[in-house]
Amino acid sequence: MQSAAQRIVILGTGGTIAGASTATTDNVGYKAGSLSVESLVRALPALAELALETEQLAQLDSKDMDHATWARLAHRVQAHLARPEVAAVVVTHGTDTLEESAYFLQRVLAPAKPVVMTAAMRPATAIQADGPQNLMDAVALAREPGARGVLVAVAGQVWSGLELRKVHSYRLQAFAAGPDMGPLGVMEEGRLRRFRAWPEGTALGLDLLPQDEAWPWVEVLASRAGAEARALEAWRQAGLDGLVLACTGNGTVSQALEPALEALRAQGVPVWRTTRCAQGAIVGAPEEAGAALSPWAARVELMLTLLAQRRRRP
Ligand code: SIN
Repeated sequence: MQSAAQRIVILGTGGTIAGASTATTDNVGYKAGSLSVESLVRALPALAELALETEQLAQLDSKDMDHATWARLAHRVQAHLARPEVAAVVVTHGTDTLEESAYFLQRVLAPAKPVVMTAAMRPATAIQADGPQNLMDAVALAREPGARGVLVAVAGQVWSGLELRKVHSYRLQAFAAGPDMGPLGVMEEGRLRRFRAWPEGTALGLDLLPQDEAWPWVEVLASRAGAEARALEAWRQAGLDGLVLACTGNGTVSQALEPALEALRAQGVPVWRTTRCAQGAIVGAPEEAGAALSPWAARVELMLTLLAQRRRRP
């Protein structure tokens, strides 16, 4: 019999891992978030021996992930981790915004127990679905002695929730770690071979998250050939709270955007630089918040920064 401290809670949020198609040969024409997390677990007899429980937190295609669902997810993860008998939480999620949710959960909770997120690139109905192995790996990682922090287990690789980047639209091995980081480890026959430290950091805490108020409005804007300031101007006039620039190369911005950016800064709206390059950080700007983050992680970080400022206001 399992000891109570080995209980693992699996929270389902949808995604391709829970996707279903009418044809087993169809890996793209499916509906994400069709199957319950309970049925995904039931399909794996090897998990039947373990002390597991499932909870359907959401049933989304992760392109539709929203801040309210993030808040509910963070609260449920925290509530389960606080139970002495729970050793870890596993979260099934879509791959498309997995990096944003993983970053968000690590920054808000920085959990001392493992929170392992997993996903799939092919629907559960595919001839060679990748979800079952990914879920097996996620549960095995969740049981790994000493594991902690928000981790992501996909395609045999383990990533830090702070570094994840989706880099491929179709392949099973769709993830990498930025900037210039490799996987935290690999899963081999149900065991972790770890290369690097667990994700670190202080939890910002659930109290930071809005309850009845709106979340800060933070957008990502890419600098590009033929850049125009029209969208930026419209955002400024509509009350944008923060901007993340996906800059060209090592943090440069088209001259065409400069006056509108100045107007934003003059209004006290923070403007953070990231690079739109798939790898690398903005070199020479180690003090700049966001300079080593992807635009998507920087957007989450800036939102959390604005929320922290809001909380500090008298
Ligand atoms: C989603 O992100 O929910 C759909 C795509 C995927 O999971 O790969």
